[in-house]
Amino acid sequence: MSRIVLTYGTFDLFHVGHLNLLRNLRALGDRLIVGVSTDEFNLKKGKQTVIPFADRLDIVQSLKCVDMTLAETGWAQKADDIRRLGVAVFGMGDDWRGHFDTLRPLCEVVYLPRTPGISSSALKHCLARPAPAA
Ligand code: CTP
Repeated sequence: MSRIVLTYGTFDLFHVGHLNLLRNLRALGDRLIVGVSTDEFNLKKGKQTVIPFADRLDIVQSLKCVDMTLAETGWAQKADDIRRLGVAVFGMGDDWRGHFDTLRPLCEVVYLPRTPGISSSALKHCLARPAPAA
């Protein structure tokens, strides 16, 4: 039976921190499933994305290390997805450490080190900064 790994995220302005996390998670099993947060769910989390959901989903689905994607529409779906998909490992970056320990009765829960120095928020700040005067 294949060992399925599951993660969730917004993946706005897709960057190398996202790529490193997804590659490292894929290496923990045989298949990686990624839940991509919808625009509506992001607004509920107080996150306004630059890249629309359909494009973020398309980018993540196109990666070699990703086997399947699904829409993340709310906080409560994780336990259902883990049961429905037969997930062995649930993983997130370590900024989420401890947040999903309640899923431990259902599967292994891991928090992997974040790539330092990059985030979607930092990229948004760079893009919003006025260009230096010539
Ligand atoms: N992540 C990571 N390393 C980074 C940035 C993100 O490992 N430098 C991980 C997060 O820990 C999470 C996943 O990538 O498990 C998706 O994170 P997301 O919130 O979409 O990306 P961020 O860049 O953290 O976005 P934001 O700045 O809006 O929080």
